Amino acid sequence: MVSRLSNEPIHAIGGGLHFPITDGRGNRAGIRFQTIIGTGKSPWQRITDDDLAKTISLINKTAPEKVFLSGHDICDHSIGRMKKELKSTCEILTAGKTYSF
Ligand SMILES: [Fe+2]
Repeated sequence: MVSRLSNEPIHAIGGGLHFPITDGRGNRAGIRFQTIIGTGKSPWQRITDDDLAKTISLINKTAPEKVFLSGHDICDHSIGRMKKELKSTCEILTAGKTYSF
């Protein structure tokens, strides 16, 4: 989306990418709300490993130096894949910490 707005290079991508594939954070009453809402899909559809693979491929094509992920909206499985498959340095954001690149 940023590439549509500007031809400037993208040095970093940061924030929540919303990939609760195998689980969600803050589950209540046995319901994994994050896997149902907030994925960009209809509630009866789930975000998949293929969706994550497409995003990883797009990020790798964009080739930012760093990717900063929020941990609140992504499962450990997706974090593991991102850290393993992204060519960029990947850090999980922590409240109160300062990041630079
Ligand atoms: Fe989020």
